[in-house]
Amino acid sequence: MSGTRIAGIGFHVPERVVTNEELTRWMDTTDEWIVERTGIHERRYVKKFEETPATLAAQAAAIAIERAGITKDDIDFIIFATLSPDYFFPGCGVLLQRELGITKTECGALDIRNQCSGFIYGLSVADQFIKSGMYKNILLVGAEVHSMGLDFSTRGRNVSVIFGDGAGAVVLQPTDKPGQGVLNTKLHSNGTYAEKLALISPGSHSGYHNRHIPEAVDYGYDHNTDLGGTFVTQKMLDDGLCFPTMDGQFVFKMAIQKFPEVIQEALHQAGLQVSDINMFIPHQANLRISQMVQRLLRLPDERIWNNIQKYGNTTAASIPIALCEAWEAGKVKEGDLVALAAFGSGFTWGAALIRW
Ligand code: ACO
Repeated sequence: MSGTRIAGIGFHVPERVVTNEELTRWMDTTDEWIVERTGIHERRYVKKFEETPATLAAQAAAIAIERAGITKDDIDFIIFATLSPDYFFPGCGVLLQRELGITKTECGALDIRNQCSGFIYGLSVADQFIKSGMYKNILLVGAEVHSMGLDFSTRGRNVSVIFGDGAGAVVLQPTDKPGQGVLNTKLHSNGTYAEKLALISPGSHSGYHNRHIPEAVDYGYDHNTDLGGTFVTQKMLDDGLCFPTMDGQFVFKMAIQKFPEVIQEALHQAGLQVSDINMFIPHQANLRISQMVQRLLRLPDERIWNNIQKYGNTTAASIPIALCEAWEAGKVKEGDLVALAAFGSGFTWGAALIRW
């Protein structure tokens, strides 16, 4: 059975740079607070009416396809990970397919909604398809446009300052070179904490889950009132229920526990150790989380790649963007052991080991 290798990689971020200073015009925050708590200096936002998750993804995908030495018509399956899709439905996979003009083959397109760990879940799915011989050129992308759905008033500042827009893409192909490619992927989730980091309305829950909405994200509405639905009510808008909510400290504590745990699990299964990792690409959740995980793993600075300072947290896109940057900088070379890991909303988390 052949393995799965990354044959091409690309990323694309919008041109528009939004500094912390710019955010202070809309909400009560400071550059010092944001840098100290998150490490973020600036992020990118799309141009309205011009860019969407699907268009950012198409730009990143075009680079990955070219670097893989194939054409768009060679793609036989698309996997699209995002939490901020263009439409509620249909998914972004088909919009990317249209954007790229993959019309002749009518290849399949799958959407993945696993938030921060979407890319790792997508990689795992692609790996199984390639290893089983079902597909030979899978396009996997993570893309997000957060800027269209954040609360830019002071009420939403703990969430809004963190997120940015962008896309990363890889082309995955079979490899017969022994030991090359994806060594393993580990996937986990725990739905107990679904509402700790969530965008709850609009949705089809019809109020059923309201008892799980914690005080930390309670905007003061009556839990017994039925506020759920795919319709948007004035009360939902007034109470900020159509924006993401997060219990930041809880997420932080879980993240620094689960990141090292899942990396060690993947290493153990592969018979490897932390000292074997040449480059660690963590999901760019928050620089403080990445630094804490780095310390817990005792990884030297040159073996971890962080770029949240420039792009903020781009959720499903953060790993392929960071991986691409590290590769372009010559920090990921043939034969290197690359470790990817993510933790986020769901909670879902996972890790992947790749021999480049
Ligand atoms: N600017 C200024 N003040 C702010 C801001 C802001 N942007 N946001 C919150 N504050 C205030 C709060 O109102 C609060 O004020 P108070 O003490 O007067 O009530 C104070 O700062 C402390 O608020 P906390 O929420 O307790 O701040 P904390 O130190 O926990 O930092 C943060 C918040 C950065 C979100 C932190 O909890 C964190 O990093 N959590 C991890 C979550 C994360 O990284 N999520 C990313 C997405 S999930 C993922 O990808 C894993």
